[in-house]
Amino acid sequence: MNFKEKFTQNLPKFEADALNPILPYTPWAGHRLFAYDLVQTLRPNRVVELGTHYGCSFFAFVQAAKDAGLGTELIAVDTWWGDEQAGFYGEDVFERVQKTVETYYARQNIRLMRCWFHEALTHFEDGSIDILHIDGCHHYENVREDFESWLPKVHPEGVVLMHDIAPRTGYGSAKFWREIRDKFGGYIEFLNDWGLGVLFLHPRSADRWKSFFDFNRYSESLYALMDKYKLELIDKWYETVNLRKRIDELKNNSKEQSILRQLLWNDICDHVALCGTGSFARRLYEVLKQGGVRVEVFVDRDEQLWGKKLFDIEIVSIEEAIRRGIRFYVVGSVSFAEEVADRVKSALIKNGIDNWRIFVF
Ligand SMILES: C[S@@+](CC[C@H](N)C(=O)[O-])C[C@H]1O[C@@H](n2cnc3c(N)ncnc32)[C@H](O)[C@@H]1O
Repeated sequence: MNFKEKFTQNLPKFEADALNPILPYTPWAGHRLFAYDLVQTLRPNRVVELGTHYGCSFFAFVQAAKDAGLGTELIAVDTWWGDEQAGFYGEDVFERVQKTVETYYARQNIRLMRCWFHEALTHFEDGSIDILHIDGCHHYENVREDFESWLPKVHPEGVVLMHDIAPRTGYGSAKFWREIRDKFGGYIEFLNDWGLGVLFLHPRSADRWKSFFDFNRYSESLYALMDKYKLELIDKWYETVNLRKRIDELKNNSKEQSILRQLLWNDICDHVALCGTGSFARRLYEVLKQGGVRVEVFVDRDEQLWGKKLFDIEIVSIEEAIRRGIRFYVVGSVSFAEEVADRVKSALIKNGIDNWRIFVF
C-alpha cells in the first residue's frame, strides 16, 4: 500500500466543506475524524451540540449519521450571534448553516435551535441525550454552568465532549476539564487543535468504547498531517475576517450615521421602532442611542423572539408595534432593507395608519 492509499482510505468526505471551504481549517477540524467515528460507533439516538457557529463539529456528527444511515436526532443550539471569544458575527453565518442543511442533509433528523443554551435546556428530558458537545464561551464560569446545567440531561452511560481543553489555550475550559475529567467513568483527550475532551459518564461505557477507536487513525490521518500548516492558515483566516469586518464596519458606520441624521433632521428622538435584531440592527441601536434617539421596541418577523428582550428592549411583531401607536420605523437590515421596508409599509397600510415614516439607510 502506498503512502497516499494508507492515509486516504476510509476517510469520510465532509460534504459541508463544499459550501464553506474554510471548515477544514477551523479550530475544530482536527477532531472531525474522531467525532465521525464516535457517532458511527456509538450509534446514538440523540446528539446535542451547544455552540455551532459555522458547524465544523456539527456537520461532522451529521455526516457520520448520514453515511451510516442512522436516524440519530442531531440538535444544534446557538444564538448564532457569536460571543466575545468567537467574535460577534452577522446573519450570513446562520444562513450558511441553514443552506448547508438544506443542500446536503435535508433528510437527516436535524434541529437548529436558535436560542440561548439555558432556554433550550427546558426542552430536554433528563437522561435523553447520548452525546453532548459543549463548545460555547470558554470562560471558566460559562463552561462550568453549561456542564452542570446540562449534565442531568445526558444518559447515565452517555458521553460529554468538551472543546478547548488543551492547557496551552489558557482558557477556563482547560482548567475546568482538568478538574472534572477524573470524576466520572473514564476519559480520553486530544490535545491537537485547541483540544477535545471525551468524558464517558459510566465506567462501563468507558471500558466498552475506548477499545473501539484506532487512535493511530487520528494521529496519522491527513488531518493531522495538515496540523503544522493549520495555525498559519487560521491566523491568516482571522486576519482576513477581521479586515473584512473592519471594512464592513466602516461602510456600515456611514449607513448608521445616515439613519441617525435623517431622524434628527426630522426632529424624531422618540417613539421609534427598530426593525431587525441582527448585527446591523444592534450596531444601529448603539448609534441611535448615542445620538439621543430612544428606540421603543425592536420588530422582528421571528415569532420565537416576540416577548424577548434585546438591550432590555422588547422584541415585538410589526402588528404589535402598530397597535402600540408607533409611527416611526427604522430599517435595521442591510441585505434585506427593501424587503423589510416593504413589509412594514404593507402592514401600516393594511391597518389603515397614516402619518407614518420609514427610514432606510
Ligand atoms: C466556539 S464557537 C462554536 C464552534 C463550533 N463548535 C465549531 O465547530 O466551529 C461558540 C458558539 O457558541 C455560541 N454561544 C456561546 N455562548 C452561548 C450561549 N450561552 N447560548 C447560545 N449560544 C452561545 C456563539 O454564538 C458561538 O457561535
